[in-house]
Amino acid sequence: MSVTTKSSESETARLIVDDHEILLPVVIGTEDERALIIDSLRKETGYITLDEGFVNTGSTTSSITFLDGEKGILRYRGYPIEQIAENCDFVETSYLLIYGKLPTESELRAFRESIRQHTMIHEDMRSFYNGFPKDAHPMAILSSVVGALSTFYQDSLDPRDARQVEISIHRLMAKLPTIAAYSYKKSFGQPFMYPQNHLNYCENFLRLMFAVPTREYEPDPVVVDALNLLLICHADHEQNCSTSTVRMVGSSNANLFASISAGICALWGPLHGGANEACINMLQQIVEDGGDVTKYVNMAKDKTSNFRLMGFGHRVYKNYDPRAKIIKRACDRLLERLKLDDPLFEVAQKLEEVALRDEYFVERKLYPNVDFYSGIMYRAMGLPTTMFTVLFAIGRLPGWIAHWVEMHQSPTKRIGRPRQIYTGPGLRNVVPISQRS
Ligand code: CMC
Repeated sequence: MSVTTKSSESETARLIVDDHEILLPVVIGTEDERALIIDSLRKETGYITLDEGFVNTGSTTSSITFLDGEKGILRYRGYPIEQIAENCDFVETSYLLIYGKLPTESELRAFRESIRQHTMIHEDMRSFYNGFPKDAHPMAILSSVVGALSTFYQDSLDPRDARQVEISIHRLMAKLPTIAAYSYKKSFGQPFMYPQNHLNYCENFLRLMFAVPTREYEPDPVVVDALNLLLICHADHEQNCSTSTVRMVGSSNANLFASISAGICALWGPLHGGANEACINMLQQIVEDGGDVTKYVNMAKDKTSNFRLMGFGHRVYKNYDPRAKIIKRACDRLLERLKLDDPLFEVAQKLEEVALRDEYFVERKLYPNVDFYSGIMYRAMGLPTTMFTVLFAIGRLPGWIAHWVEMHQSPTKRIGRPRQIYTGPGLRNVVPISQRS
């Protein structure tokens, strides 16, 4: 196959299959990323492409997030993650992702105000929680209750109605922290608090989590700042597993609540968002086992052990994850400001040091990812381990929404429906049950 310039504006690639030559159009992204458009391949040659795990397959063009895994670059709508983390709060970042521009003061005020109007959940919905077992994982509760939003808001389910979509977006942004906090309260039988609309997004969430009706609760500004930063770092990451799920479900014109609920399920897995919980459990195990990090690095290298370093490695980053860099620094700062000395942070740093010097990790370009240090921050903030992935979901919500909206606004949107190569038995006839062996 070769690439030829067809005209000054567009390129095509020449592909020869079975002596048949076809021209494939080339798409060039803002940062000179290139893709071949192959949708005519089967019609013209009889071949499809096969790429398990989508290792080399783009599912869409997108103008939301740019990621260069080789250089360790992450930008939301063109702005470097480092600048956003330094200058914006989470609601502002959400506006940027969803609407494509940084808000003016009045736009941001109106957005915050609208979200504030929707923070409570329906009283009947609160009673759902009685039906879940006390030890239910909060991610299971989160996806169920978010899915159930479509039963309460049947007036805003049409993905083709811009006004209905707008209301659903604001409802979701407002209610997800409330739904999440109630899953935690349920786990040990504390009363559910009502949201307080004079508080900001993160303060409100912390109060819903930690306040009780019998005494005043003042959110610690240090913890509020840390939470804002963590949510910003998780806000979008282009076509990851959960975002692709949200797009896939939404491509059938399923409503926004159903699509986000599916995204939450995809995020739960330990190879994706569930890695933050798995990582802290791993660090805890290493500490309890005497802190010998080399033993665990060796285990991770041993293919028969079935053990991986959680919070390490990434499909796209072949360099230090820029989010992990920001979070590691913030973690150091948070522990100092809260005057905490967490043995897990020391072990994590030792583990990183040993792994990054090891030939196995160097060769495969495996670095700490976003989930490696985030859990230590959540712990310092008093958040229980089972809530870590829930926090990831709250952070990722604006990214999921932005992608769902972008997909629906695309003039080339089609239902997501991959093909396959069938490898089962050839044609055979049904034998009567009495004659089967
Ligand atoms: N520990 C040990 N070996 C690893 C690890 C790890 N954490 N990650 C990858 N490898 C090895 C893997 O065994 C393979 O080795 P070989 O070439 O000898 O077969 C090679 O590195 C490539 O790995 P892969 O599984 O083919 O890579 P992938 O792109 O399919 O998977 C990943 C990416 C993130 C699922 C994987 O690195 C992993 O399982 N990491 C641990 C879980 C984790 O931290 N997940 C969070 C990802 S970041 C946040 C998010 O997206 O949610």
